[in-house]
Amino acid sequence: MTTDPPLKELALHDITVRFGGLTALDTVSLRVAPGRIVGVIGPNGAGKTTLFNVISGFVPPTSGSLTLDGKPWRPRPHHLNRLGISRTLQGVGQFAGMTVLENVMVGARHRHAESEALAALERCGVTRFAHEYPGALQYAIRKRVELARALVAKPRILMLDEPAGGLDADEIRWLGTLITEIGTTVLLVEHHMDLVMSVCDEILVLDFGKPIALGTPSEISANPKVTEAYLGAAA
Ligand SMILES: Nc1ncnc2c1ncn2[C@@H]1O[C@H](COP(=O)(O)OP(=O)(O)O)[C@@H](O)[C@H]1O
Ligand SMILES: [Mg+2]
Repeated sequence: MTTDPPLKELALHDITVRFGGLTALDTVSLRVAPGRIVGVIGPNGAGKTTLFNVISGFVPPTSGSLTLDGKPWRPRPHHLNRLGISRTLQGVGQFAGMTVLENVMVGARHRHAESEALAALERCGVTRFAHEYPGALQYAIRKRVELARALVAKPRILMLDEPAGGLDADEIRWLGTLITEIGTTVLLVEHHMDLVMSVCDEILVLDFGKPIALGTPSEISANPKVTEAYLGAAA
């Protein structure tokens, strides 16, 4: 088991990110309380991945700040594992020259890396692929390996960037069950509305970097601004 102190709160305060003339995030604030499943949705280009990149320290905010457990926090990619924060990448991001098991062991941070990696593969139902190479596997299997890689560290905060992308209905249902059963704090970027609406406690909606709504799934699905943003994107 992890010996991390439990999470108290991750918070973003008025985060703005500009890339040249483009504002990818525009004064976004968000509080993530322990055990919550928080969805981040919005049309393509809304800034969802950028939000994850800010929390993982890959993209420094142009302005605004973050706090972790109430203290000012400047995230750094190489500190995340130690802080108990894991993320999956949009798509699949495994090392081709390493087996599935070795890929998952990379994410482990305790001494019994191999047994923990095997347990994570088991949790994701892909133990039988442990000694294969990711490149030889079906996309849905690789997505599960990607999840196992994020879960192996037993994170306090799990960040999932479009985990359902490219999956069929059965796989998405399996994923939904896993997300609700892990019992950790989850930040979920996802386009599959059924999944988002069924697993999230609260949802932040971004549109061109702006937070246009924050609320429970039923509040969000009844919010005309949200429908408009999606219809605008489809048009
Ligand atoms: N490193 C970067 N440099 C320049 N522009 C970027 C960079 N990352 C993202 N963007 C731009 O910021 C906007 C938001 O992108 P992103 O966060 O990937 O959106 P989403 O994940 O919601 O589809 C897009 O217009 C994208 O092109
Ligand atoms: Mg994205």
